[in-house]
Amino acid sequence: MDFCILTIFPGMFDSFLTHGIIRRALEESIIRVDPIDIRDFSKGKHRITDDRPYGGGSGMVMKPEPLAGALREAKRRFPKARKVLLTPQGRPFTQPVARDLAALNGLIFICGRYEGVDERIYKYIDDELSIGDYVLTGGELAAMVIIDAVTRLLPGALGGEDSADKDSFKDHLLEHAHYTRPPVFEDENVPEVLLSGHHGRIEEWRRQSSLVRTLLKRPDLLHKRELSNQDKEILKGWCKSIEQLISAEDLCGADSSSCKK
Ligand code: 6GU
Repeated sequence: MDFCILTIFPGMFDSFLTHGIIRRALEESIIRVDPIDIRDFSKGKHRITDDRPYGGGSGMVMKPEPLAGALREAKRRFPKARKVLLTPQGRPFTQPVARDLAALNGLIFICGRYEGVDERIYKYIDDELSIGDYVLTGGELAAMVIIDAVTRLLPGALGGEDSADKDSFKDHLLEHAHYTRPPVFEDENVPEVLLSGHHGRIEEWRRQSSLVRTLLKRPDLLHKRELSNQDKEILKGWCKSIEQLISAEDLCGADSSSCKK
């Protein structure tokens, strides 16, 4: 898969591209990453890429000519790639979007800076993405986030394991709890069932762990999926235990403000 990045700060990607899974995916040609410096398409010796907004006001706007020139070059290199503007106004980037993007032939990211890009650039854009409801100083970090999330979904990128299949969000559920050696750490034991070697019981425990974690940490996700009757029973059982555990009346009598426990 090809990623082409239009940016005024190509150096920001150096560290990202030389570590871990991304580095290996590059070495194994699972991905290609080709940054284009927007400044190379700016006329004049000062290589200016921004200017003051018409109509006044604070902040700067990315000039259209260098962006259009850089996009033309990107399109020449990757004619089939989707051209994506990275901006807080874009559609939200989520795991299902990552899966859609992973099926594409290539992506061209336009990393916006300053207050935004000149409106007349939009005719060259296929899509707009945002990585969350907060404002970054530029789209470069968003490009890295998206490249990371998409790359790990590509065949072979995680090194033969099927771990991407079991990810958090796969099924609108968070991943279950994990343990590794040692069996006892600071007086805390690994749950017995995980040491039992009983695959059926382990799978059942992991399902419970996923459901309960999602209920406690991200209850909004549970609304997005159909719960099986078995899942509902598991959650009901846990809700009952939690209710019993935190009921102030059970612990301290009717006046919970005097609770010392
Ligand atoms: Cl894609 N760009 C910027 N500048 N800020 C963001 C963003 C993108 N996504 C969230 N905040």
